[in-house]
Amino acid sequence: MSISTTLVTVISGLIMLILFFSELQYYLTKEIYPELFVDKSRGDKLKINIDVIFPHMPCAYLSIDAMDVAGEQQLDVEHNLFKQRLDKDKKPVTSEADRHELGKSEEHVVFDPKSLDPNRCESCYGAETDDFSCCNTCDDVREAYRRRGWAFKTPDSIEQCKREGFSQKMQEQKNEGCQVYGFLEVNKVAGNFHFAPGKSFQQSHVHVHAVEIHDLQSFGLDNINMTHEIRHLSFGRDYPGLVNPLDGSSVAAMQSSMMFQYFVKIVPTVYVKVDGEVLRTNQFSVTRHEKMTNGLIGDQGLPGVFVLYELSPMMVKLTEKHRSFTHFLTGVCAIIGGVFTVAGLIDSLVYYSTRAIQKKIELGKAT
Ligand SMILES: *[C@@H]1O[C@H](CO)[C@@H](O)[C@H](O)[C@H]1NC(C)=O
Repeated sequence: MSISTTLVTVISGLIMLILFFSELQYYLTKEIYPELFVDKSRGDKLKINIDVIFPHMPCAYLSIDAMDVAGEQQLDVEHNLFKQRLDKDKKPVTSEADRHELGKSEEHVVFDPKSLDPNRCESCYGAETDDFSCCNTCDDVREAYRRRGWAFKTPDSIEQCKREGFSQKMQEQKNEGCQVYGFLEVNKVAGNFHFAPGKSFQQSHVHVHAVEIHDLQSFGLDNINMTHEIRHLSFGRDYPGLVNPLDGSSVAAMQSSMMFQYFVKIVPTVYVKVDGEVLRTNQFSVTRHEKMTNGLIGDQGLPGVFVLYELSPMMVKLTEKHRSFTHFLTGVCAIIGGVFTVAGLIDSLVYYSTRAIQKKIELGKAT
């Protein structure tokens, strides 16, 4: 065996090995078949996973609300949202996050509520109505004021707020940030949820048309900076290869009192694993819109982060499958056969050309 034949054999052996392993690697990956259907599975629940940081929005000011398309506040839905106070460096202030009641801003109770008469009926300071005649907590007074459309400006003159330490809490948290995390479980119809300074509002369809926000300036927050960082936002469970387009995005508010709207289109997705496990979840696509608002007046939108979601009527089904073994076998045979043939060609080419050159040299010597 000549040196050239040995060289060709070694090189073609190496090439064969490389090609074989790349084929094997391809064979071991899973194939995913996408299919498109009209989604007929209505009436499920939609799980919204949230993890958002507001570096300049204190937890005491921030309210979270969820509404569906019928304009109903999702108060009785299962929810598990937590608010974590953060300092300037985004470090937690307290070791334990507060559980957040939807549509309510929680109060730190500094007095013992049991010391009060449970059947008492306290004044609403002129805001009482027939079906809302007693204001036993600071929240009740705020709610009564909201129903009347009154601004809630002087908490210190309200007994209920004074004993709950409402103003101190607002002052104390003035320079803090807030992390909101957890999940919401809502009806599987279009709707929205939002994070905004102030308290809840009414709305019809997905358009906000009236709002009561207390005058934050009077509580010491003079710049409503809605800068936010979305660490995670998804609508359902995770599956291999799922991309959540908002994860890790952060948006700085260039001006104060900005309104951020995220228009989300949810695509119901069914993922079927090789072992037959079926995962019902959702993908989504999103566009962001931001605009200036003129503070808390509300006729040009409201400061806050609003997520408006809609469900796509089409559903995607992704089915994971093993790659065909016969295809793999065919591939391997093609590699072996192909490399052999090419190597043979090269070898004979080298052999005949060296022979021809040798002959020429011999002829040259003879003459
Ligand atoms: C809000 O905070 C961000 C940084 O966290 C800053 O870049 C931006 O200028 C602030 N906006 C206002 C209006 O103060």
